[in-house]
Amino acid sequence: MSILSKRVILTGGAGFIGGNLVRHMLRAGYHVLNLDKLTYAGNLNSLADCKGHPNYSFRQVDICDVEALASAFQDFRPSAVMHLAAESHVDRSIDSPDTFIRTNVLGTYQLLHQARLYWSSLPEDQKSCFRFLHVSTDEVYGSLGGEGLFSEESRYDPHSPYSASKASSDHLVRAWSSTYHLPVLITNCSNNYGPYQFPEKLVPLVILRATRGETIPVYGQGLNVRDWLHVSDHCFALQTVLEHGECGETYNIGGNNELKNIEVVQTLCDILDRTYPAKNGESYKSLIRFVQDRPGHDLRYAIDSSKIRTKLGWQPEWSLSSGFQQTVEWYLSNKSWWESILNGNYRLDRLGVGGK
Ligand code: NAD
Ligand code: DAU
Repeated sequence: MSILSKRVILTGGAGFIGGNLVRHMLRAGYHVLNLDKLTYAGNLNSLADCKGHPNYSFRQVDICDVEALASAFQDFRPSAVMHLAAESHVDRSIDSPDTFIRTNVLGTYQLLHQARLYWSSLPEDQKSCFRFLHVSTDEVYGSLGGEGLFSEESRYDPHSPYSASKASSDHLVRAWSSTYHLPVLITNCSNNYGPYQFPEKLVPLVILRATRGETIPVYGQGLNVRDWLHVSDHCFALQTVLEHGECGETYNIGGNNELKNIEVVQTLCDILDRTYPAKNGESYKSLIRFVQDRPGHDLRYAIDSSKIRTKLGWQPEWSLSSGFQQTVEWYLSNKSWWESILNGNYRLDRLGVGGK
């Protein structure tokens, strides 16, 4: 990809990974058009430092809006699409699956369709350079027992409305590759953590509830296992796949950082005890409470990321301990960012037990 053709339409750029990726791609010399509907999870405050950047632009666009998508392609003339826009929270998908089907399935379809119309109209040299990178999740593979890892060949077996909608979108992307030869790439990544994550997710939820002296809810017995990756390592992996991945291929991304949820919570409490000791002198661990489990809670996710490591030379830079420490410090130093969220509709409450 030449410097002249580094023009990316990035969907979901006002969200957690998308915002970090906008910043990453600008630093890498790309022109970025961020298309985001600004749902509850979209937050332009996360991109305050990008506003006014000569290579950055933003449009408030719903990916289900065909006309808005068509004019974005025609006006911006991208050399690539990085598709992150989605409803992303498993607990919310249990309460209200409809928006997950709409955005993750129908929205991905509309984006693929518009990308194909635009791509088909390109001259041959630009056509062969064009890429559609679909950003997906390890949750499409379902749940592991105590042993084994998800590889790119693992069978799809999604369990939640969220993971089923993401699995559907992955299949649509593959169908556009097989049927129309759209040059696609798919990534399936494990749990991300880091700056600007909406506080409904486990890591920021623990940090914010603990420092406010509120109980820390651990679902079930806290024995479910996730594989954790710093968001900036995910961003670097996405740039690597975009630039060097083979069309039509899937790449699993993970950090080899498996932890039980209770270990995640205890580690964060230990960091907080050292960094921001509670005024009553007690450990934050005293706030931990085991609560009703998530319906359909997958036991274990673990990623075999040897393909992206060996074929594309990617590897993560953050260790879990330095990444968790940096993340705790970021939330402690960026109170105004999360306070403005908590002044809205979401107040760190339990989600996902009241399916409608
Ligand atoms: P997020 O919820 O923080 O952000 C999602 C963004 O998409 C928001 O800015 C929201 O406004 C936007 N959006 C939602 N519906 C839209 C629509 N109809 N049109 C346009 N924009 C819309 O999500 P995230 O955690 O940053 O995840 C980003 C992507 O990465 C998702 O596709 C998710 O499935 C995938 N992913 C996330 C993780 C993780 O650990 N967070 C891991 C693997 C893959
Ligand atoms: O694996 C990748 C996925 O990781 C992404 O595709 C999703 O978009 C992302 O939200 C994340 O899904 P999880 O369900 O794993 O993340 P969450 O932060 O919601 O929960 C992490 C684990 O912690 C999970 O096993 C449920 C548990 N949990 C979560 C919350 C919010 C608790 O025990 N207590 C909580 O309060």
